[in-house]
Amino acid sequence: MKISRFLFLSIFAFLLLLVVCKQQVEVVFSPGEVMPDTDGVPVNAHGAGFLIYNDTYYMFGEHKGSGNAGYVANDGVRCYSSKNLKDWKDEGIALAVVDDESSDIAKGCILERPKVIYNEKTGKFVMWFHLELKGQGYVAARTALAVADKVTGPYTFVKSLRPCAGVWPLNFSEEQKNAEYDYAMDRWTDEGTVAVVNGMYVKRDFEGGQMSRDMTLWVDDDGKAYHIAASEENGTLHICELTDDYMDFTGKYVRVFPDANNEAPAIFKYNDKYYMISSGCTGWNPNAARLSVADSIMGEWKYLGNPCRGEKRQINTTFYSQSTYIIPVIGKENAFIYWGDRWKSSNLIDSRYIMLPILFEDGQPVLRWYDEWTMDVFE
Ligand code: GAL
Repeated sequence: MKISRFLFLSIFAFLLLLVVCKQQVEVVFSPGEVMPDTDGVPVNAHGAGFLIYNDTYYMFGEHKGSGNAGYVANDGVRCYSSKNLKDWKDEGIALAVVDDESSDIAKGCILERPKVIYNEKTGKFVMWFHLELKGQGYVAARTALAVADKVTGPYTFVKSLRPCAGVWPLNFSEEQKNAEYDYAMDRWTDEGTVAVVNGMYVKRDFEGGQMSRDMTLWVDDDGKAYHIAASEENGTLHICELTDDYMDFTGKYVRVFPDANNEAPAIFKYNDKYYMISSGCTGWNPNAARLSVADSIMGEWKYLGNPCRGEKRQINTTFYSQSTYIIPVIGKENAFIYWGDRWKSSNLIDSRYIMLPILFEDGQPVLRWYDEWTMDVFE
């Protein structure tokens, strides 16, 4: 009798311990809610890129000011670190904009969608980001480079450029190279559309380099890195190979989905296939996400449709968000998290994050809404 009571109590105590432990480690994600850092201050790193280094997630994003100050960069790129994607420690400004009007990254420039990758060969952390020069709105359409010896920085600004000057895309025909255009032609006419699809802007920007706005980076299994950006007046994505040190373009690049207006590209690899989630082109307003697939990073890319499932308004707005990154979960196979900005254009600092698990239904990645979810969803 005594023994069985002892046994019962022991089992009860053990189960209680399990529940308490699980509660302590179980991280609950609440998409769209304010995300306080470990000091209780809302995370201020928008349009973020993520790097996994030493079993830690690092988030690099646009530090926004309040109100109108949020439209330009007054601080730079802020970095946070986390072991669980929920408790974010503020690591400070990783790349600071400068008080020097002659610098490409002068205070007041537009600095968006920073991404950091680690180069095994050089031991450097390499950051690329979308840069618009101060006072020029979104005309400059440049990509820019900064490097650091430490993951959290400080990052040193190296250069900004328009990629692939003087080189044609790999998938550009002789006919396309030789075509003649009136570059002032209205892009939104039938004739304009045909010209853009055919590569009118590639030809226009051939000498000075291709436009580069919303961007991401991808490091492939063989260590080669790629820069993926909205080019050609945001009409066409360009996927460009980077040099071995990740600090330049090799000149090998392809056009993807000419004139389909893809922005906010985010990539992940699942079952030997490359998947991309991107958005349409409606500024700060959300639109329907697009899913594409390819057997290799340089393509051919094939459009698969909208990955969102749910109510119409959710599907049409990607749950009111725009993709920024897809994070592979540390220590779990085939577990990926979609991370998107829920922009608040009237006060960008108050933009929220949507994080949702990527689910696989019939082998196809899909997104569904959860008010709250935990990593158990991947089990
Ligand atoms: C979005 C883009 C953002 C930002 C915004 C400005 O389309 O994804 O990163 O550039 O436009 O209107």
